[in-house]
Amino acid sequence: MRSTSTGPVTILAIESSCDETSCAISRDGIILSNIIAGQAVHEQYGGVVPELASRAHMQNIVPVVDAALKKAGCTLGELTAIAFTQSPGLIGSLLVGSQFAKSLAQALDIPLLAVHHMQAHVLANLIPGRAADSTGSTDAAAAVPAFPFLCLTVSGGHTQIVLCHSPLRMEVIGETLDDAAGEAFDKSAKLLGLPYPGGPLIDNYAREGDPKRFSFPEPQIPALNFSFSGLKTAILYFLQEQTAKDAGFIAANLPDICASIQGRIVSILLNKYRKAAKETGVTDCCIAGGVSANSGLRTAFRELGEKEGWRTFIPAFEYCTDNAAMIAITGHYKYLAGEFASLSVSASARAEW
Ligand code: KG4
Ligand code: ZN
Repeated sequence: MRSTSTGPVTILAIESSCDETSCAISRDGIILSNIIAGQAVHEQYGGVVPELASRAHMQNIVPVVDAALKKAGCTLGELTAIAFTQSPGLIGSLLVGSQFAKSLAQALDIPLLAVHHMQAHVLANLIPGRAADSTGSTDAAAAVPAFPFLCLTVSGGHTQIVLCHSPLRMEVIGETLDDAAGEAFDKSAKLLGLPYPGGPLIDNYAREGDPKRFSFPEPQIPALNFSFSGLKTAILYFLQEQTAKDAGFIAANLPDICASIQGRIVSILLNKYRKAAKETGVTDCCIAGGVSANSGLRTAFRELGEKEGWRTFIPAFEYCTDNAAMIAITGHYKYLAGEFASLSVSASARAEW
């Protein structure tokens, strides 16, 4: 491998853990481009079909990498390292990105950086120049949280409260015992007859609805952990009961149902977050992951932060759902720490961190 350079650190990062193919270029921790190709093919099946996802990644990866390089105005010769999502995710999807990244690193004779997807969601909050933070600062450097900070990471597969001591040292202090918050949104949407992924649709309908109209239970789960499977069952029984009385119930009340479901998911998340902040004494608080794009969560999180005296941070929308910019920023810190992967590293569907 070529020795690490002393010039700017330019990283090409690839994300392919689920159904988004993404490539980003960063230079010295600044994101120059972040191209994301979604996969509409899954909509008709009500969820991600792993085989179709792998095939779409194979079709998308070359054009996406090409577009990211072009947008960044960067050539392959300028790259210092290649970062990729190693785990967790769908194994077939991860393999496409990891094989591509390994081949490119070997061909260019530059270091390889293996990134954990959930760690990267958290570090999306360290991408400088993000629009969303509660400090009111226009100074890009000031608009990132200081260590130690807390992050509520809410995605389609995970729900975690993470205590971050440094970019590469993080502790999961609470997590879901069953469904993830994103699954709670998507499964509720499915019960309402909405297509996959239903989270953003519930968000849209909820804007017009009354969150107090219907009441769903809040589970009493010990410590800083979460559970969403009881909520799903309560929604199922509620909808069965109401539609037995009135077949048009869902259509007539969709905004109020969505607002009530969203309101309960948000309160479950934020009640635990408040407890975590109290227990740790940490006041720089972030959210991350696909569900952090939810407008109800973003607003309620800001309001809670104001009440509790926290500084709150939320990644820009494009860095909430799956994207390669978060892989690039994590790769950047791994590069600075000299945490390189060997070419024999393999993708893994599950991995502890
Ligand atoms: O982080 P992400 O893109 O992929 C995973 O790593 O899982 O998260 C995807 C999840 C899906 O469950 C999707 O429904 C949810 O994020 N999501 C939302 C919103 N946007 C994406 N949920 C609620 N409101 C949204 N606006
Ligand atoms: Zn994700």
